[in-house]
Amino acid sequence: MKKLLITGGAGYIASHTNIECLASGFELVIVDNFCNSSIEAVKRVEKLAGKKVTFYEADIRDQDALEEVFKKESDIEGVIHFAALKAVGESVQKPLEYYENNISGSLVLYKVMRKYGVKNIVFSSSATVYGDPEKIPVDETARIGATNPYGHTKVMMEQILMDAAKAENWNVVILRYFNPVGAHDSGTIGEDPEYPNNLLPFISQVAAGIREKVVVFGNDWPTPDGTGVRDYIHVVDLATAHVKALQYIDKNPGVHVLNVGTGQGYSVLDMIKAFEKVCGHKIPYEIGPRRDGDVAEVLADPSLAVKELGWKAMYGLDDMVSSAWKWQSMNPKGYRG
Ligand code: NAD
Ligand code: WQD
Repeated sequence: MKKLLITGGAGYIASHTNIECLASGFELVIVDNFCNSSIEAVKRVEKLAGKKVTFYEADIRDQDALEEVFKKESDIEGVIHFAALKAVGESVQKPLEYYENNISGSLVLYKVMRKYGVKNIVFSSSATVYGDPEKIPVDETARIGATNPYGHTKVMMEQILMDAAKAENWNVVILRYFNPVGAHDSGTIGEDPEYPNNLLPFISQVAAGIREKVVVFGNDWPTPDGTGVRDYIHVVDLATAHVKALQYIDKNPGVHVLNVGTGQGYSVLDMIKAFEKVCGHKIPYEIGPRRDGDVAEVLADPSLAVKELGWKAMYGLDDMVSSAWKWQSMNPKGYRG
C-alpha cells in the first residue's frame, strides 16, 4: 500500500497518525469537513513531516464529493477511517445527529470504497463498545454493550464494516482505542477542544488557568483511591499502531479486532498529581458526584495487538502528561491562537 485516504484527517488522533504514516513512506489524501478541527492542524503536520499531503474539505456523507476524491486520486489503496462525532454527553442530547453523521458517513464511505475497488481499511473504534465490562482487563472477546448513543454508533459502524468486509473480501483492522492522551513531543500538534469532554485536557486547562478547578467525578468508586481508573495511552503510541495495522493487513487478509491500550491503569487523582509534577504548581480540584454512565475501572488487555502487530506502547504516564502540558503551554488558544 502506498496511497491512503484519511477521513477526519485534520482531527486529534489523525494528525499524530499522519506524521507516523508520512514518516513510513505513505502518501496521504485527507478529507475533513472541519466540524471539530482546523486546517492549521494539517499545515502543522506538513511542516513537522517536511512533506505535503493532498487535502479536500468535504463531508464524507456527501457521496458526490467523496467520489470526486476517489476519481481524482485513482490510486488510493487503503483508508484510515477516523471521521466521527465523539462526545459522549453530546450524543445523549443529540442522538440523531450522531447516528446521522457516524452511520451515514460510514455507509457512504464503504459504498464508495466498494465502487472504486479499495479493499483495505483501518477503523477507529473505541473501548466504549465494551460499556461496563464484566472482567478487567478487557480482551477482544468481551461482551459488547455500549451505554450511550456515541457508543452505539461505534458498535454499529464496526458491525457494518465487518459485514461489508465479508461480502467484499476486504482486509480490515478495527482498533479499539482506550483513553488517548498527550501530544506530539514538538508541542505543535495536540488536542484542541474548546470545552474539554475528557479528563486530561480539562486538567490541562485548569493548570493553564483557563478553568478554575477540576471536578473529580466521585471518590467512592471501588478503586484503590476511590476515583475512576482508566487505561490512558499516549497518542503517539496510538498513531504507530495504525502504521503497524496497515502493514499487517498487507500480509494478513480478513478482519482483525484489536485493543489499543497499555494495560496499565491510573486514577483521576494519579493524573492530577502527575500533572502537578510537570506544571510545577498545585491543580485545584474538588470532589463532585459521580457522572452518569461512568464506570469504576476500564483497562485493556492489549496482548493481541502486541502479538499480532508487533506493537507495544513505548510511553509512560510522565510522557503523556508532559507532552500534554507542552502542547497547552505553547498553544494556549490551541490552533486558534
Ligand atoms: P476529532 O474530533 O479530533 O477527529 C475527528 C475528525 O473527523 C475531525 O477533524 C472532524 O472535523 C472530522 N469529521 C467528523 N465528521 C465528519 C464528516 N461527516 N465528514 C468529514 N469529516 C468529519 O476526534 P479524535 O479524538 O481524533 O477521534 C478520531 C476517531 O477516534 C473518532 O472516530 C473517535 O470516535 C475515535 N476515538 C476517539 C477517542 C478519544 O478519546 N479521542 C477514543 C476512542 C475512539
Ligand atoms: C476519565 C476519568 C471520569 C472528567 C471517554 C469516552 C470513551 C472514549 C474515551 C471515545 C473517568 C473522570 C473526567 C472530569 C473526572 N472516547 N473525570 N472529571 O469516560 O473513560 O472515556 O473518552 O471513544 O468512549 O467515554 O474518559 O476522560 O471522560 O474520563 O473526574 O472533569 O476521569 O469520571 O473516571 P472516559 P474521560
